[in-house]
Parts: sequence; C-alpha cells; structure tokens
Amino acid sequence: MDARTLDPPHQLDIAALAERREPGLSLEAPFYTSDEIYEADIAGIFSKHWIFVASEGEIPDAGDYVTINLGTYSVIVVRDDDEEVRALHNVCRHRGARILTDAQGSVGNLVCGYHHWAYATDGRLRHAPTHGKDFDMTCFGLKHVAVQVVSGLIFICLADEPPEDLARVADIVSPYIAPHELGKTKVAAQVDLVEEGNWKLVMENNRECYHCDGHPELACSLFPTFGYGSSDIPPHLQPAHDRYLLAQTELEARCDELGLPYVAVEDLTSRDSGFRIQREALDGAGESFSETGESVSNVLLGDFEHRRLGRLSLHLQPNAWFHFLSDHAVTFAVLPLSSGRTLVRTTWLVHEDAEEGVDYDPEALTKVWRETNAQDAAFVARAQLGATSPAYEPGPYMPSEYQVEAFCTWYIARMQEHLSS
Ligand code: FES
Repeated sequence: MDARTLDPPHQLDIAALAERREPGLSLEAPFYTSDEIYEADIAGIFSKHWIFVASEGEIPDAGDYVTINLGTYSVIVVRDDDEEVRALHNVCRHRGARILTDAQGSVGNLVCGYHHWAYATDGRLRHAPTHGKDFDMTCFGLKHVAVQVVSGLIFICLADEPPEDLARVADIVSPYIAPHELGKTKVAAQVDLVEEGNWKLVMENNRECYHCDGHPELACSLFPTFGYGSSDIPPHLQPAHDRYLLAQTELEARCDELGLPYVAVEDLTSRDSGFRIQREALDGAGESFSETGESVSNVLLGDFEHRRLGRLSLHLQPNAWFHFLSDHAVTFAVLPLSSGRTLVRTTWLVHEDAEEGVDYDPEALTKVWRETNAQDAAFVARAQLGATSPAYEPGPYMPSEYQVEAFCTWYIARMQEHLSS
C-alpha cells in the first residue's frame, strides 16, 4: 500500500479532554492510558515543576551520586567536592553520550565511558584527551539542572526558569521536618517497585484510605477512623475515634512542650506545588510503623528523647509523600516510566549512628511499608486494567477521597497552563 494513502495518526485533543473534566469524578481513561498524555505529563508536569528525587542521606559523601531518569531526561544528583548537592544533565558535552549508567555510586570525577572526557563533580570539564590547542575546556561543562534541598530532601526542576513555589512550601514545612535532622541520617534500605499503573493512579491511591482495609500491616499503626471526617465516624468505630482523640491530645501536649509543630496545613489545589503536612498520633504503642506500634530503630533521630511523637506526614505534588517518625523516616518518590508503568522508590532512613543488626533489623524496619506498597501496587494495577477497558467511565469520589479530587483538580489546572503556554 502507498504510505500516502494511510490515515494520519490519530491525535488526542488533550486540551479538550482537560476542559471537559467534571469535578468530583475520576479522570477520563486517556489520562491513565494514553502515550500522548504521558509525553505531555513529562513535558508539562515533570519538566516544569519541582520533583522530589532523593534525600541527603543517599549521597552523604563527596562524589556520591544517584541518577534519575524522567522521560528521556537523565540527571546526575551528586555531592560535589565542596559537599554541595548538584544536579547535572547526564549528557556528555563531547558527542552526547550518557555519562553514568548506574543508578547510584561514588566517583572522583564524572567520566564519560565513550572517549573519557572527565568532569569534576560540580560539572566543570577537567580533562579531554588529546584535545586541540584552541579547545576551551571552560565552554564544555555539564549543563546544570536546578536543585533545592529542603530539610534534607532533594528536589530538582528541569525548567530553565523554575517556579518559586518550592521556597514558599519549604518555609511552611521546614519547621515540621527540620527537628528530624535528615542530614544526619543514612539509608537503611531502599526498594524500587515498578507498579503496573499510570503515575497519577499511584498518587491518587496514596491520597485516600477508603481502601485501607486492604492494608492489615499499616492498620496496626493507623487508627481505624483514619480518613473519616469527624462527623462521618460510623457508630461501631466511635470507641476507636475516642482512643484517637485521647492519643492526639496527648501528642499535641507533648509537641507543645517540645516546640514541635503538628497542626495540619493543607494547600492541595493552589497554583503552587500542592501539599499537605500534619503530625498525627499513631495507634498501639504510638511510636512507629510496626505491628505493635513500637520503635523499629533504637537510635532516635535529631535530639529526640521521646519515642511517642506520632507520624509527621507530608504529601507533595506532583510526585512524593513522606513519613517522619521519632526513630526513622520513609520517603516515597513516584517516577513515571511509561503511560502504564511507574517506579515507586521507597527509602528508609535511620540515624547515621544506628547500627544494622544492633539498633535495627532491616526486615522489621521495612515490613509495614514493604507489605503496604505491594498491596497498593496490586490496587493500582487493578485500576489501570479497569481504565484500559472501553467500558470504563469516570466514577464519583466519596467524601473521604477529597484529596484525590484535589490532586486531579491541581493536575488538570497545571496541564491546562502547560497546553496554553
Ligand atoms: Fe563522551 Fe565522547 S561522548 S567523551
């Protein structure tokens, strides 16, 4: 057949799809399944906004690095010789080869494996074998990516002119996070889980606990009324709610005494990076994420002396959530791989002085979120399968899913801005 007689490829009208999104309903199927929208998400969300990629504990020493892939971008996040955190495009300035291919490691210089140009960890070109006499090394440093560190959490922004919103969010959340002193933590465990679902389904799933009876391990630490509004508590859960109120009152009194902020701050739909932060009591022993609610690492973070500090939970759009406890912290980075696959990187951080096998058992430390992540991955895969069916149509969010609605509202607004820019 003559190629000229073929129909032109079908093009989605993403702007029209965004325009007709009905508040209160899940998104239309292409937002979860379309490769075109995936590309638009990379261009309009992951290339324009601040993206959480790692924590300082992952690159404690000069030369330590992680590589982050976002769409076709690859970025090196490295601690340079002056201990500063840098983000550099992982593209050699000679003929463009990818410089580092490992996910993490430690280097003296960043050396391209093709013709061995060597860059300092701050991106300057240090050595180019047998270059001509007029060659100016200063013109061929690696391209920089904007980077910000917020209380030990590392964010990058691929945009030439990054939005200023992260600084505003940082002003609000830093007083909550700083006492946990993430700069003095180390990685106790890290798990990369590839979920068979679109990145938005991963984020949406994290924004509601309507499904939380599917999380028996997590349920040991969360109160059974988590996710309910105080006026929606079913009668049979009233005793559990009373237990929560008592624990929360005790926690708030302790926080007041210690100067730890705990009040919920929520700004999920504004033009900035949507976020929510709050310190809440945990059930059981109230200390940490474990079957009994007891601590899973002996050495407390920061200069904490109290174990019952509940969980400080931060959700940050577009791609992360975090839990900070007295004895450890857990970070979750959501990195899209394709329209239907998403990498969820979970990292457990403990005090830098905590000794594996003495102060913590990695198995016990990670159990709750390893199990919970696996269960969530199964929920996300189900949702993705459903969205690919021609029978799928957007369905209604329940009151306890208001944060999912807020996420979708924020996402649609940001996509509309991108499409009209
Ligand atoms: Fe990197 Fe040639 S492409 S040194």
